[in-house]
Amino acid sequence: MRPLERVEARDKVTGAARYAIEYPVEGAAHVVAVAATIGRGEIESVAAAEVLAMPGVLAVLSCENAPKLNSVDDAELEVFQSRTVSYRGQLVAAVVAETLETAREAAARLRIGYRAEQHDVHLRDGQSGFRADVDQGDPEAALAEAAVSIDETYTTPAEHNNPMEPHATLAEWNEDGLTVHDSNQGSTTVRDTLAKVFDLDPAKVRVISPHVGGGFGSKGTPRPTAVLAAMAAREVKRPVKLAFTRQQMFSMTGYRTPTIQRVRLGADADGRLSAIVHEVIEQNSTVREFTEKTAGPSRIMYRAPHRRMAHRLVQLDVPATSWMRGPGETPGMWGLESAMDELAVTMGIDPIELRIRNEPETSPEDGLPWSSRNLVACLREGAERFGWTGRRAGREGRTLTGMGVASATYPVNREPNTATARAEPDGRFTVRIAAADIGTGARTALTLIAAEALKADPGRVTVEIGNSDLPKASLAGGSTGTASWGTAVHNACEALLAELDAPIPPEGVEVTVDTKEELESQEKYARHAFGAHFVEVRVDIDTGEVRVPRMLGVFAAGRIINPTTARSQLIGGMTMGLGMALMEESTMDLEFGDYLNHDLAQYHVPVCADVRDLEAIWLDEKDPHLNPMGSKGIGEIGIVGAAAAVANAVHHATGVRVRDLPITPSRLL
Ligand code: MOS
Repeated sequence: MRPLERVEARDKVTGAARYAIEYPVEGAAHVVAVAATIGRGEIESVAAAEVLAMPGVLAVLSCENAPKLNSVDDAELEVFQSRTVSYRGQLVAAVVAETLETAREAAARLRIGYRAEQHDVHLRDGQSGFRADVDQGDPEAALAEAAVSIDETYTTPAEHNNPMEPHATLAEWNEDGLTVHDSNQGSTTVRDTLAKVFDLDPAKVRVISPHVGGGFGSKGTPRPTAVLAAMAAREVKRPVKLAFTRQQMFSMTGYRTPTIQRVRLGADADGRLSAIVHEVIEQNSTVREFTEKTAGPSRIMYRAPHRRMAHRLVQLDVPATSWMRGPGETPGMWGLESAMDELAVTMGIDPIELRIRNEPETSPEDGLPWSSRNLVACLREGAERFGWTGRRAGREGRTLTGMGVASATYPVNREPNTATARAEPDGRFTVRIAAADIGTGARTALTLIAAEALKADPGRVTVEIGNSDLPKASLAGGSTGTASWGTAVHNACEALLAELDAPIPPEGVEVTVDTKEELESQEKYARHAFGAHFVEVRVDIDTGEVRVPRMLGVFAAGRIINPTTARSQLIGGMTMGLGMALMEESTMDLEFGDYLNHDLAQYHVPVCADVRDLEAIWLDEKDPHLNPMGSKGIGEIGIVGAAAAVANAVHHATGVRVRDLPITPSRLL
């Protein structure tokens, strides 16, 4: 399709696009959250009277006075329902006041009495009991017999999502029920969850989220902001605005668990893998179970008859772990793709050639045929463009240079959706679906999909999303958005077009479709996107500083719907991969039991000066087994494997193998 700029671009750059708490509302009060200052224990008292005496303070909410809420799957949403403190930084109280300044001051002054217990926040090795999720053949025997083997441990630190817009909600009750303007990755889910929590008919809850300033997974599940704002608005009988502060986001909105990954590879003298073992230790809070499927990609990447993939969750007094871009694949491909590079170096085989020798004909996980798999084509195309052949580690003055490569992958999934397409008598079309555009360009991609199915110019199509009153939709997560919503949009538009044989009556013509049955009847294929990252590094001999002057990602992700926003998604993912490789690290304070770095001054992400020549391209991949558009997801694959490619380049340049992220100067010198 031809590239289309974001349809809401003008609204965004002129400030006309509003985000959750920017909506003007008469008489709104302000809510500020209060975080626990102990790592584990009980709340004994909340000195609410002291701050209630401050002029302008309207209410103090905590376990001492909160209304009873219904439980849902996520205990993080049981706001103020218990006196238990499960981690430092947990949401334990809130102040509602006339102004934001008063609410902040009162929240800072609110004295909470605790009975503290000893916390344990230290993720470490040493316990037994892996739960294997893949166990094929006899990997131990295969490793013992292998001509060459690798047995190394790779770690990733805790990493925090930092969308530009914090988690925020504007809540208002009236005779029709509850209306929230909320920053989330799916308004249908937030509506259904709020209805359950507050015991309301879902028809009485309205979630409005047309523009969302990033999520990366942290807004994929409804967050406590929505529940707290709704509770506070009901309490003070006024609309309220609540945004978590950047500091609070580091404990209240989820993050990626640290991982400890032992990867063992066994190969014959030609580099053909006989065994892959990937065992992962990661942490969980005591509040909410969440498994980062770190060993997941090792199930499908390379052929090896003997395999074992296992995870162990260690329950600690830490904030609740959750989704962060490419959950599972992102840390997992750090371990696997570092180990593949080590095997290549050990055997003196080119790292691309090693991967090609281990291409599986069918999915090693279940023997299913690939719907399409163009990893080798990505590696070859990238090698050609990047100048890989004959690469040589070099030295220019006090700088060492080198090149690295790593593979990328992400599964292709689809969720059931409903969409409505409508032809107006003036020749325009309106498409409605409660999809979410979290900055990805989803609205624009759906406009193109609709226009193509309607055989109309995109300028004649308006796509309405981001509102739970629209036909119900799955969330913007797991790189499923465009494929899932797009199928419903495509089918609705095609069905509408079939009905447009007569002049359109004044009331218009409307068609609604549901994709549930279509998904159930899908043929069995292993559906995954693949890619390859190429990285050049320059390492300062004296300081150990790593710079990445050049990075290329080559992807095979089916048909690309909108090249303009797709490129932006892919290089955005690669930029996060660069951050993961070199900067991002949440450091646990074992004594106080909380992450030490709570803002962007201390949690470092790449800035423009760090991002030099970064390019993403894709192959023209035609896959008939996906969806009517022929597309795979592109939201997450850009980050997957990127950190390993950087580390592999650092090894090529310096001979130093860094197995613990991020690659800071102290780890190189
Ligand atoms: Mo993404 S971590 O599935 O929002």
